[in-house]
Amino acid sequence: MSLFMAVGLVKRFGGLLATDHVDLAVEQGEIHALIGPNGAGKSTLVNLISGLLPADAGRIVLDGVDLTGLAPHQRVRHGLARCFQITSVFRNDPVRDNLLLAVQAQAGSSFHCLRRREAETALMDAALALADKTGLAEVLDRPAGVLPHGMQKRLDLALALAARPRLLLLDEPMAGMGPEDSLQMIELIGRLRSETAILLIEHDMDAVFRLADRISVLVYGRVLTSGDAAHVKGHAEVQSVYLGTEAHA
Ligand SMILES: Nc1ncnc2c1ncn2[C@@H]1O[C@H](COP(=O)(O)OP(=O)(O)OP(=O)(O)O)[C@@H](O)[C@H]1O
Ligand SMILES: [Mg+2]
Repeated sequence: MSLFMAVGLVKRFGGLLATDHVDLAVEQGEIHALIGPNGAGKSTLVNLISGLLPADAGRIVLDGVDLTGLAPHQRVRHGLARCFQITSVFRNDPVRDNLLLAVQAQAGSSFHCLRRREAETALMDAALALADKTGLAEVLDRPAGVLPHGMQKRLDLALALAARPRLLLLDEPMAGMGPEDSLQMIELIGRLRSETAILLIEHDMDAVFRLADRISVLVYGRVLTSGDAAHVKGHAEVQSVYLGTEAHA
């Protein structure tokens, strides 16, 4: 069985069928990219999976557990995390405190058996490990809100990783970045493969082809096809979809 399965997902906005009976599977250790023209329904699909939007029909299953009826924070507890936009960061607080808060939220009661001092050390260690992993060790004392854009996006990612996800949802993590920040983000996402599966929405096709083990193409709310980079590149309908739009992909 796949690590993650979306089965028959449907979402309507009035008369618009934004998600049209979508089936999607993500395997353990997989980076699965979701591509498609503007308005294809990529963000809507991620919002259905994270629970931000209720689905009109269909099921969400992670690790054999049906998450369909659960609220977003409950899904996070079951291992399904997403990058929230940077607004979830406490902008006036140092990067260190933002990381500590996220680690603490995840740790919950798991440190209760430790003495206070030990618990604090364990939380700090976990926060520093996250900073190291995401390239933020040098800016721990800086208020999160003054970080350059690329670092803010990496902090956003670090906060999602604090939840120790089994599946991480990333909606355009490279958006608005220059080439240097993009490259750093691509390398970081690639390194995460060993700790979590990833569903990646991205318009930057270089990034998609470098990172993705599998690519699903969404068009008008439907999955047109799924396969590796060679399959998708050679798919006649995919080519016509992209040639027929001014998509950045
Ligand atoms: N809350 C909403 N209410 C009404 N219509 C919506 C809502 N959210 C999205 N839509 C519509 O649903 C369709 C899919 O939108 P969605 O944002 O999921 O596309 P997308 O693939 O993420 O596009 P982009 O590449 O531009 O981010 C679009 O036609 C959009 O206008
Ligand atoms: Mg979108």
